[in-house]
Amino acid sequence: MSTTVDTEKTYVLHTWQAKQGDWNGPEVVGGAGAWFWDADGNRYLDMAAQAECNHLGHQHPAIIAAIHQQADEMCFIHNAWGSAPRAELARLIIEKSGLAGGKVFFTMDGAEATEHAIKMARWITDRRKIIGRFRSYHGATSNAIALSGDSRNWKAASVPDLVRALPPYCYRCPFGHTYPECDLRCADHIGDLIEWEGPETIAAVVAEPVVGTNGLFAGPGDYWRRLRKICDRYGVLLIADEVMSGFGRTGEWFAWQHWPDAAPDMMLLAKGLTAAHLPLGAVTLNARCAGYFDVNPLPTGLTYAGHTLCCAAGVAAITAYEDEKLVERSRTLGQWMHHRLRAIAARHPSVGDVRDIGLFAALELVADPQTRAPAVVWPMVPPSLSRLSKEAKSRGVVFGVRGNLLILCPPLNVEEADLAWALDVLDELLVITDEDCRVPAGVG
Ligand SMILES: Cc1ncc(COP(=O)(O)O)c(C=O)c1O
Repeated sequence: MSTTVDTEKTYVLHTWQAKQGDWNGPEVVGGAGAWFWDADGNRYLDMAAQAECNHLGHQHPAIIAAIHQQADEMCFIHNAWGSAPRAELARLIIEKSGLAGGKVFFTMDGAEATEHAIKMARWITDRRKIIGRFRSYHGATSNAIALSGDSRNWKAASVPDLVRALPPYCYRCPFGHTYPECDLRCADHIGDLIEWEGPETIAAVVAEPVVGTNGLFAGPGDYWRRLRKICDRYGVLLIADEVMSGFGRTGEWFAWQHWPDAAPDMMLLAKGLTAAHLPLGAVTLNARCAGYFDVNPLPTGLTYAGHTLCCAAGVAAITAYEDEKLVERSRTLGQWMHHRLRAIAARHPSVGDVRDIGLFAALELVADPQTRAPAVVWPMVPPSLSRLSKEAKSRGVVFGVRGNLLILCPPLNVEEADLAWALDVLDELLVITDEDCRVPAGVG
């Protein structure tokens, strides 16, 4: 073990650990593109894009050049003063989102974007309650985590005025229905909640148009459109959390653009905004919401909101997505991955479901393909999936793991040969989870 890892273990509290002693990350000393390497010279293909955020891989040269240039000119200028990177980044976000007449409020990360969107929705509507969904994630700060579908956190969160809805999770439909006979019961259920809570009390519905690693589902068919209609019926704002699904991940600039006539009122951004080269988040407001603040106070802000260096990184990231045609690539390479994953799943009974959109996929692993029974209750990780993930790492591939989901979320510029190799490794290693499955391989 390196001295760095010893020092980390002694002094750092590591995030999202069941217990601190479980943490044993090797010391990473470098990276390039979809690869990074540790102090012992082991190389890893980053199929999780770190925390699903390195959309452009590691050390993207154009972003590094932009950070260097901005650091030479001016590292930081506060919001009270004008700054070209902040102005240009906001302009680009509005251009890519198509939210004409809208404006951008900058934060430092995704959770702060959620917190500020909640405050803004309450000011704009003069209503208090916010609806979120189980099996979602909106950040680890107090309101954001209370709104998220992660029960481990609710004891520590601030809960008042937040309402949780059932998720549009077709594989395990909480209503016991099947699409299309269900006629989108999961969306109408949010309408019911608004009625029961009192429409005059509900400020907003916050939802990921494509749920990230807490499930990777979008809801069936026109779910998002139905949600938009329900919100309009009651004068409730629709807030799209695009922190994980934004910037080409799903094959569109933003996932809601798969249903382009159902634009949200606000959109939350982080991660891909700078492709994780520096921390930055944002709330994007449509013209109506932004207009509210033309004539009303906005008594909130963060010291580093729209930090100059981070915004310069953001401009370079968006330019790279565009120049390298990565949104289109996510679509086309994602199609190839889609077919390959289905072929793999057909060989492995432990793969209960494959869900994917663009270069974003999840395999849902089960202990019994007939009943769909999972080996453990979410968010516990089945021991066989832990073994699979450990073995993959030892072969040089890092997959994402959340509960019984194996996540594939490579940088959008991953080499095709590398992606193909990672899927070969996955195909080989799924025998580990098959062993825990009640149906023998070849039968499922
Ligand atoms: C959909 C979504 N929203 C919000 C967040 C919180 O972002 P951050 O970790 O930058 O605070 C995340 C983080 O994973 C996310 O996936």
